[in-house]
Amino acid sequence: MKSYSSNLLKIILLVIFLFLFVFFIFYIKKNAQAPEGPVSIGGPVGNFVLKDHTGVPHELYYYTDQKAVVLISHANNCLINRHLNPYLNRLKDEYAAKGVKFLMINANPEDTLSSIAKEAKDFDVQIPILKDRPQVVSADLNFHQAGEAIVINTEDWSIIYRGAIMEKKMDAHYLSGALDALLAKKSLAVTKTQVQGCSIDMQMGYSKKEVVYTRDVAPILMNWCVSCHNDGRDDTWSINDYETVKEYGQLLREVIITKRMPPLKGDELLSPEELRTIIRWVDQGSLRGEGEDPLF
Ligand code: HEC
Repeated sequence: MKSYSSNLLKIILLVIFLFLFVFFIFYIKKNAQAPEGPVSIGGPVGNFVLKDHTGVPHELYYYTDQKAVVLISHANNCLINRHLNPYLNRLKDEYAAKGVKFLMINANPEDTLSSIAKEAKDFDVQIPILKDRPQVVSADLNFHQAGEAIVINTEDWSIIYRGAIMEKKMDAHYLSGALDALLAKKSLAVTKTQVQGCSIDMQMGYSKKEVVYTRDVAPILMNWCVSCHNDGRDDTWSINDYETVKEYGQLLREVIITKRMPPLKGDELLSPEELRTIIRWVDQGSLRGEGEDPLF
């Protein structure tokens, strides 16, 4: 009898242990998920800063006081965008009081800040249109076409819905339905729908060109960062060899995509090409490349 109950105890302890172990592994996996690379449903969207068509910068994580952020892909001359403008203006007003922020993102290579400003004026766009010239934010968000919506839950920056805004024929209001569900803390029946949008030329954002440190990244760091990040200053860390830069890769990505570094004003910022190069380098695993270390 005694050995029977002690065996039972052992089994129970083993089951509890296994349960905790599995839980622990899941917990680690979930928390190790860095906000980088194309994000899918449920995945967290990393922070970014982009300027809108009136010149005002928007930082995604600034909107923590909102319940949700809606991102809509935009392109000039896109009839789908134009057709949806009046409806989206209404939604923006209706949901403003409920804590929903609407932003558009334009990664279309042909569209400049001034041509976007004209489009906004001519077609009464009342939502800020953020210009994503390097396309890295849009590539992370997996935007391929204009007229697609992404709903982000600001509690954990996860994407809870992506796809069509509404379907006229079916009278299906996907976007507002997703927002209503989120605000009512209900789970969503449809988290993803097909979009018939205007295609955006995303070649730059998705470029598979291999980026390496010695040839591509070190010259940019030398040009933009080393003047402050050297042994001579004790308020910064030294950007002086491959290993260090690689180690700080994720932080580097973050300070660049949020435009914190270099801490300079106006046009004195990394070019879209330079920004893209550093971000792709981190995403591709921080390859070293051939030759000597130019920073060492
Ligand atoms: C004008 C001087 C200056 C330039 C140029 C500059 N930095 Fe910095 N950087 C600083 C200072 C000062 C700090 C520490 C204070 C802070 O975090 O703002 C810092 C901090 C950082 C950090 C750490 C941030 C954190 O949250 O701990 C990173 C990463 C960084 N810089 C990367 C870069 C990169 C990459 C470049 C070039 C693209 C660059 N910096 C250019 C002055 C500069």
